[in-house]
Amino acid sequence: MAHIHARPPEGAAADWTIPQDWSAYTPQDHGVWDRLFARQAAMLPGRVVPEFLEGLDMLRMTKPGVPDFEELSERLMRRTGWQVVAVPGLVPDRVFFKHLANRRFVAGRFIRTPEQLDYLEEPDVFHDVFGHVPLLAHPVFADYMQAYGEGGLRAERMGAIERLARLYWYTVEFGLIRQDGELRLYGAGIVSSHGESIFALDDPSPNRLGFDLRRLMRTQYRIDDYQQSYFVIDSFEDLLRQTVETDFAPLYRELEGTDDLEADAVLPEDRVYTLGTQERTAP
Ligand SMILES: [Fe+2]
Repeated sequence: MAHIHARPPEGAAADWTIPQDWSAYTPQDHGVWDRLFARQAAMLPGRVVPEFLEGLDMLRMTKPGVPDFEELSERLMRRTGWQVVAVPGLVPDRVFFKHLANRRFVAGRFIRTPEQLDYLEEPDVFHDVFGHVPLLAHPVFADYMQAYGEGGLRAERMGAIERLARLYWYTVEFGLIRQDGELRLYGAGIVSSHGESIFALDDPSPNRLGFDLRRLMRTQYRIDDYQQSYFVIDSFEDLLRQTVETDFAPLYRELEGTDDLEADAVLPEDRVYTLGTQERTAP
């Protein structure tokens, strides 16, 4: 989500979408997907929310190879009215929000190389599709993603994108949830990463704090390493309700007068599940 070009690159439509060109994937591309898939599928049960695994199943994502976006969209459309569309890379905020508001998830179509299984500069199709798409089959999470897109369009008009982007970061990308008294994963940035799927739940280093919308919009985040703090929601219903019912305009105005919090900050009013040692990032 960065302003990189004012206009779509050549070959892309006005809304920045491009054909996935599924037949162009090589056996090596499909092989990379299969390796990543097998590794995550073996590790995630018991760690990820069951809704994620149900989504994989329902969308037939267990089928080998890079998924065909058209097939995926057809199943998703029947279930929650969402589609998956390909884009050439990062798109401008406005374009991104507009797609979400219209229940279209934009995904990169390229896939990392076998030498890069754990390293990524830009989100590829494994992150975007394996990480994000299964939960779009969940009706409540699907509504949350649309509400986020609509909120993004409003935030853009109010100059508050940076604040709202933190909500996306700490929920859609790096969110944890408490179910039956246990912490579980649901953020796409975590579930598409082998290392972070373990770190986010088991490592003593990061903080795990109760979700608080206002607090979270003040909190900086790391883009160069695993997170120093994870925020834990009580349910997808609660996340959706807070996002829809909060009047963000006065909140943005109020936050203009407050300082940002460091990514590892812990406040007296935080609901602390785990107070992290922050060992991983210690100098
Ligand atoms: Fe993502």
